[in-house]
Amino acid sequence: MTSKIWGGRFAAGPSAIMEEINVSVGFDQRLAKQDLHGSRAHCTMLVAQGIVSKEDGDAIQEGLTRIEKEIATGNFLFKRALEDVHMNIESRLADLIGAPAGRLHTARSRNDQVATDFRMWVRAAIETLDDEIRKLQAVLIDKAEAHAETIMPGFTHLQAAQPVTFGHHLLAYVEMFGRDRGRLNDARKRLNECPLGAGALAGTSFPIDRALTAEKLNFDRPMANSMDAVSDRDFALEFLAAASILATHMSRLAEEMVNWSSAQFGFIRFTDAFSTGSSMMPQKRNPDAAELVRGKTGRVFGGLIALLTVMKGLPLTYSKDMQEDKEIVFAAFDTLELCLAATAGMVEDMAPDAKRMLASAGAGFTTATDLADWLTRVLNIPFRESHHVTGKIVKLAEGKGCDLAELTLAEMQAAEPRITQDVFKFLTPEASAASRTSFGGTAPQNVRAQVKDARLRFLTKDGTR
Ligand code: ARG
Repeated sequence: MTSKIWGGRFAAGPSAIMEEINVSVGFDQRLAKQDLHGSRAHCTMLVAQGIVSKEDGDAIQEGLTRIEKEIATGNFLFKRALEDVHMNIESRLADLIGAPAGRLHTARSRNDQVATDFRMWVRAAIETLDDEIRKLQAVLIDKAEAHAETIMPGFTHLQAAQPVTFGHHLLAYVEMFGRDRGRLNDARKRLNECPLGAGALAGTSFPIDRALTAEKLNFDRPMANSMDAVSDRDFALEFLAAASILATHMSRLAEEMVNWSSAQFGFIRFTDAFSTGSSMMPQKRNPDAAELVRGKTGRVFGGLIALLTVMKGLPLTYSKDMQEDKEIVFAAFDTLELCLAATAGMVEDMAPDAKRMLASAGAGFTTATDLADWLTRVLNIPFRESHHVTGKIVKLAEGKGCDLAELTLAEMQAAEPRITQDVFKFLTPEASAASRTSFGGTAPQNVRAQVKDARLRFLTKDGTR
C-alpha cells in the first residue's frame, strides 16, 4: 500500500526494509504534544488569514482535541506504516473528521513542522532540567550549610594540599551547576524562534501570518530565513553540548563520592538506600549509583559527537539524516534526568565522618602554607624565603615522623630563630581553614555567607534565568 499522504505518484508500497529504516514513530511519538500544539496554532492562523474556512478550522480543532484525549488516555494507535508522528496524527484526523483534515497541511511541510515541534520539545526539556538542577543545588546547599565547619583535606593532584571545609567543597559544585543552568537557558533563548511557515524550504505563496503562529507557540519571533529554519539543528547541538558539560560536572562529583566512600578514604558513608553489595565479598558496600552516574556520561558525550557528525556534511536544506537528531536528544535528556535525581539522592544520603576527615586534613603537612604565611605576615620574611624555611621544617617533621604542630618551639627555631609560640595557633587544620576568609575562600564564616548568597542566586524564582 502506498502512503495515503504522499503516495500520489507511487504505484507500489515500500519494501519491508525500506519501512524499517524509514520509520520514526517508535520514538518521535514523544513529539505528539508539540505536534498537536503546532497544528492548532497553524490552523488558527490559516482561519485568521482566510486561507481555511471557519467551519473547516473548527472541525480540525475538534478533531485535534479528540486525538489529544486519545493520546493522553493511551488509546491512540501509532502505526508504523504511517512513518512518523506527524503523519500518524494527520491520518487519524482524517479518520475522525474526513475531508477538512486535508486542509490542515496547507502552507506547511513536515520539514518546518518537525523543526517547530522539536524546538518546542527541547525548550520544554531545558525547563525541566533547569528545575531538576535547581533541586540538586538545593540539597547541595543544605548539606553545605550543615557542614560549614566540617574540615576535610582539599586536594591538588589528589595529594592532600590544604584543609578546607566540606561545605565549601560542596558549594563548588553548586556554582558549576549554576553555570550549567546558565548554558541551558542561553541555548533556550537562542532556540526560541519559530520555523513554522518556512514550508519545505522556500516559504509559501499563501498569505500566512508567521508572527501569529510564532506568538501562539510562545516563540519570540519567526525565524528570518526559511532555508535556515528547516536546515539547522544547532539548537539540539547546543543542548547536547550543555548537557555534556553538565554530565561532566555530575561525573566529577560522582567520582569524588566513589573515592570518599572507599574504606581507604572513609570520608562519607552511604546508607543502605544508596549502597549495593557484592555477590562474593560479604564486606563490600559499593557506590554503584555514583559509578553509574560517572559511567553514563559517555552516552551524553556520544550523543553530541553523533549529532555533530550527522550534521557536518549536510547540504542545505532538509535531508532525512536529520531524523536521527531526536533519539539522540531524547536519550541524553533521559540520562540527565536519571543522573540528576540519583545525584541529588546521594548528596542527601551521604553522611560525612567528620572525625576521619579532620584527621586526614591534618596529615601530610597540609598546614605548611599556614606556617609560611605566618613567617611572612608576622616576621615580614619575603614569601619565597618563608617557603624555603618552611620546607626545612617540614623535612624535620618528616624525619621525626610527626606533624608540624607536634614539633617543639626549639626545633622550629633551629630553622628560624625568630619563630615564637604564637605560630602553633595557626598550624591546626581548623585554624588553617578558619583563616581563609578572603572572598571565595573556605572559612566557615564564608561558607555560611555563601550558602545564603547561593540560595538567593540559585533557588529564588528567577535565579539564573
Ligand atoms: N520524520 C521526519 C524527521 O523527523 C519528518 C520530516 C520529514 N520530511 C521529509 N521531507 N521527508 O525528520
